[in-house]
Amino acid sequence: MTDPTSPRERAEAFEALADARRSVRRFSDDPVPEEVMRSAFRSAHLAPSSNNLQPWEFHWIRSGSPQRAAGVEACLSQPAASTSAELVFLIGRPDLLADRAAAMVAHFEAAGNDGTASYYRVQVAHNVRNMAPEDRNAWVDKSVALAAAQFMLAIKAAGFDSCPMEGLDPEKVRALFGLPADATVTMAISVGQGIPDGLYGPRLRFPLADHLCEH
Ligand SMILES: Cc1cc2nc3c(=O)[nH]c(=O)nc-3n(C[C@H](O)[C@H](O)[C@H](O)COP(=O)(O)O)c2cc1C
Repeated sequence: MTDPTSPRERAEAFEALADARRSVRRFSDDPVPEEVMRSAFRSAHLAPSSNNLQPWEFHWIRSGSPQRAAGVEACLSQPAASTSAELVFLIGRPDLLADRAAAMVAHFEAAGNDGTASYYRVQVAHNVRNMAPEDRNAWVDKSVALAAAQFMLAIKAAGFDSCPMEGLDPEKVRALFGLPADATVTMAISVGQGIPDGLYGPRLRFPLADHLCEH
């Protein structure tokens, strides 16, 4: 497919999209089309991850799901959850890292790429086994958070709004989905059509110059 836009136009469009995404805490009753959600999940799944181990799981409580009430409660019943059309929990699975590394070994062996297969068999498997649990969880959460960012931008690109939430009860989330104790609940994201009251204030950022360190 030919892209009719120039790199500059695409960069401007992307910056406008990043600017348009806000954390919206109240939504209308409008539904979110299923394809909007599925497209956003595909974008989230394209996020980069450390060693490409893709440590995320997306638990989607669909509108009308019998688990909806428990999902909202797990988000401490905050309005961003209770008024949303769709609710997603982004979970990290440190317990599956060894399996994912083994799947990479199998993939690269089948492709005849013995060097990369050996890298996953020896170095990656060793790292995964020997990391302290808190380091491993931080390592996993980093990659899951990148998937979350791509998900929210995709939702905005489709004309809908979202709110990331870590104001939640991780134990309730794990119980709801039958997750192991070491699964990280990186964040929840609610999705819907935002209403004006859902914006709690104008965009607030410190000057970029205070954050951008050029060397
Ligand atoms: C990891 C994370 C957790 C957050 N948790 C909550 C939350 O529980 N409830 C909420 O209303 N907003 C939450 N937010 C939204 C932030 O308050 C919001 O991103 C910030 O105020 C900047 O606003 P903006 O997203 O509109 O630019 C969270 C954001 C992130 C990234």
